[in-house]
Amino acid sequence: MRHWMAWAVAPLWVSLASSALVPVSAWADGQMALSQPKPAVAQTPPMGWNSWNHFNCDINEAKIRGAADAMAASGMKAAGYQYIVIDDCWQKSRDENGFIVADAARFPSGIKALADYIHSKGLKFGIYSDAGLETCGHHPGSRGHEYQDAKTYARWGVDYLKYDWCSTGSDNAQADYTVMAMALRDSGRDIVFSMCEWGTAKPWEWASDVGHLWRTTGDISDAWVKNEKSKPWERGVLDILDLQVGLESFAGPGHWNDPDMLEVGNGGMTATEYKAHFSLWAMLAAPLIAGNDLSNMTPETHDILTNADVIAVDQDALGVEGHRAVKDGDYEVWTRPLKGGDRAVILLNRSATAHKMSVDWSTLNMAPGEKADVRDLWSKAVSKGVKGAYSADVPSHGVVMVRVSPAA
Ligand code: GLA
Repeated sequence: MRHWMAWAVAPLWVSLASSALVPVSAWADGQMALSQPKPAVAQTPPMGWNSWNHFNCDINEAKIRGAADAMAASGMKAAGYQYIVIDDCWQKSRDENGFIVADAARFPSGIKALADYIHSKGLKFGIYSDAGLETCGHHPGSRGHEYQDAKTYARWGVDYLKYDWCSTGSDNAQADYTVMAMALRDSGRDIVFSMCEWGTAKPWEWASDVGHLWRTTGDISDAWVKNEKSKPWERGVLDILDLQVGLESFAGPGHWNDPDMLEVGNGGMTATEYKAHFSLWAMLAAPLIAGNDLSNMTPETHDILTNADVIAVDQDALGVEGHRAVKDGDYEVWTRPLKGGDRAVILLNRSATAHKMSVDWSTLNMAPGEKADVRDLWSKAVSKGVKGAYSADVPSHGVVMVRVSPAA
């Protein structure tokens, strides 16, 4: 925890001064300390759906209810998806007492009724705000209203808050996110705190006691690598992947690196690329937050998002994020240890042509003579008693993802 004086920047004082209900004990000994423990939620990476990647600001209660209906009926809920998260643009204004007011044209029944509906489907409900005066979409942010907003969210039945970083000027991210973390803990409800700070202030170095997950980069683009359709602040799947190298040691149960939400099913990549995207996010122990139109999913998209073997890797109870073990130009091997001694392995081919690749047992800390069963998590083929190395043909812009189970 850094010394309080290091944070003494003017906008921060404004923000804190206006949070009239901050417990004084939070600053005992001149340090900013979290007065209550972090709720023990998100012990495995959160799984759900968020409105942003597909709908952007074009949201309303019918679309959010539709997403909840589809999640419950499509098999996604059964596969482990839980959270339905409304991203930016649900807010309209603040009332005369400072309470946040939802856009009544888009959400005529109100947010509480929507939360109740989502809960009635056996799902959980998430919402979005921002540490600044304005969200990235220029709607009211939470600055100066952190405690009031957290109480409002708890009253509505919010289970998950994505908290963005637009219009924060020269604020200290650790200070601002800590204020909202305290407000959420004081709200009386266990709320997953999803920090969307884009990695600028390296949240992985300080946020494990503050949030449950933190974005590590700017926004994802529905592209294998950034292309002419990507916005200036967006990155493709491989661009984001490269920025995760070295961050793996900071993740664990209850505190995850977040390489941003999924683009699977949004149309900008091939099915092979989407399988790779989904596999790599599972390797990274990333939150699996679908970002497509759940009400209009192709069978192919559905099958990618509900691949139980890949999801099991993401949700593995050991909670160790995978790392890049081998980089040989366009050919990479990623691996993560799983509970019980299995290893998940991805052979990634970034090149324009198919390529035969292999993983050596030494890369997996296994002896050359050790026998293992190798299960391909997409084709479901099992190779028994494999020794020394495992080889496979890997498609261009694709992966082979396997689970290596050493013989008992
Ligand atoms: C930022 C976030 C996105 C999304 C938008 C909404 O860009 O990084 O994930 O929430 O704001 O305006």
